[in-house]
Amino acid sequence: MKKRWKWWCAIVLIAVFAGWCATRWNVWFHNAPELPYSPLVAPGRVLLTFADDERSRIVTWQCDSVLRPSWVELVKLPDGDTLRIEAQGEVFASRSGKAAYYIARLCNLEGRYAYRAATEDRVSAWFDFEVKAAGRRPFSFLYIGDVQDTLLGETNRFLREALQRHPQCEFTVCGGDLVERPTDSYWDEAFRNIEGIGQHMPFVTVTGNHDYFKGIRQRIERRFDLIFPYFQTTSVDDNRVYSLKCADAQLFMLDSNRRPHKLWQQRRWLHRQLEQSQALWKILVLHHPLYSLKGHNNLVQRWMFDGLAREYGIDLVLQGHEHAYARMTNHDAEGRPTTPVYTVSHCSPKNYRIQFDRRFDKFGISSRYYQIVEVADSVLTVSAYEVYNHQLYDSLRIVRRAQDTYIEDLGRNIPEYLEYTPRPGNKKDEKFAERIRRYQQ
Ligand SMILES: [Fe+2]
Repeated sequence: MKKRWKWWCAIVLIAVFAGWCATRWNVWFHNAPELPYSPLVAPGRVLLTFADDERSRIVTWQCDSVLRPSWVELVKLPDGDTLRIEAQGEVFASRSGKAAYYIARLCNLEGRYAYRAATEDRVSAWFDFEVKAAGRRPFSFLYIGDVQDTLLGETNRFLREALQRHPQCEFTVCGGDLVERPTDSYWDEAFRNIEGIGQHMPFVTVTGNHDYFKGIRQRIERRFDLIFPYFQTTSVDDNRVYSLKCADAQLFMLDSNRRPHKLWQQRRWLHRQLEQSQALWKILVLHHPLYSLKGHNNLVQRWMFDGLAREYGIDLVLQGHEHAYARMTNHDAEGRPTTPVYTVSHCSPKNYRIQFDRRFDKFGISSRYYQIVEVADSVLTVSAYEVYNHQLYDSLRIVRRAQDTYIEDLGRNIPEYLEYTPRPGNKKDEKFAERIRRYQQ
C-alpha cells in the first residue's frame, strides 16, 4: 500500500513538472521565424565601434548579397588627404535571407575625421568622429541597459536628446539585448534606434540573452560578430569577452548568458585581466545582474564574478536584463559604503515585477533610464536619468583619496518612482502592487 502511494506521488510530481515545462516551452525553446528580407542596395547600417584600443576604430556596414571590393574613405579634418582603407567582406545567410557585411579597421587615430563606406561604386553618407589623445584625461560615456525597442523611434529620440544634454560623452555602452530577437527586422529597428549616434561615436555592447537563439545548445548568429567585430580578437573560446582601456579606466565586458563551464572560462579571463590591469578605475559590464532584482536568479554569475570584483577593486558594475532601475553599494567591515557599486538599468518598453531586496539603496520601476558615467582624476560619477524628461533620478560619486575610497550618495534625496497600476484581475500584478506598498512602508 505504502509503495503504491509513493508511485502515485512520483507520477503526480512528474505530471506537474511536465505541465510546468509545457507552459515554459515557448519561453525556453521557440525561436520566432524570421521574415524574408532583401539586402541593402547601398552601404547602410553603418556602425562605428572600437577595435583593440581607444585609438582604433572599426567601421561595419552591409551592402548587397554578393561580395564586392569595399573600403572606407577616411579624411583627417580639416583638410587631410582621403585615405582608402580596405574592408574585409563576408556573406552571411540567416534563416530567411542573406547579405554581405563589411569590416574596416582604422588604427592609430587622433583628432577629427570624416569617413564614408564604399562598396564598389556605391557609397554611404559621410560621417565624422573624434579620437582624443591617449593618456590621462577626464572622459564620459553613456550607458544603456536592455533596449529591445518596439516603440518605433522612441529610443532614437531619447538617445539624441541625452547626447545633446551630455555632449561630453565619447562613446555608448549597451548592457546587452540591443535587439529583441536575432532577425533582420529587429536589427533594422536597432539601427534606426542608433541612427545618427552609432556612426559618430563608438557603440559597444555586451551580449544579452536575446542576442542568442533559444535552445539547449547556445548559439549566436555570425551576424552579431559581423556587426560587433571587436570580440573577434578577444573572445576566449566562444565567449564574447572584451576589455577596453580608456584614459584612467578599463572596462571589462562579459558574456554572461552562458553555461557554467563557459562562465568559468570567462572567470579565468577576467582574473588574468584584473591581475594585469593598472587602471585607476575598473568597470565591469555584464547583462545578468550579480545581485538579482527578481529573487535568487543569476547565482552562478555571482559565484563566478563577484568575488573577483571585490578582490580586485572593481568600482562599478553596469548590468541590465531585469527591466527596472536599481543601485546597490557594497559596505566595508565597519559598515561604510564602498565599492563595488552595482547598478541595473534598462530602456525597454517592458517592465518587470521585481523584489525589493533591502541590500539595495534605490529602485525605480515603470520607467526607462540611461546612465552617464564620468571619470575625472580621482572621482567617478555615475548618474541615472529618466528617458522621458531627462530628469536626474539617481547619482553617486566614488572618490579615491590616497588608498581610501569614499562614496558620496547624491541620489538619496531624489524620490523613488514606484507608481504601478496592476492590470485588473491579474494576481501577479496585484501581488506586486502589494509588495511595493510594503516596501514603501
Ligand atoms: Fe535580458
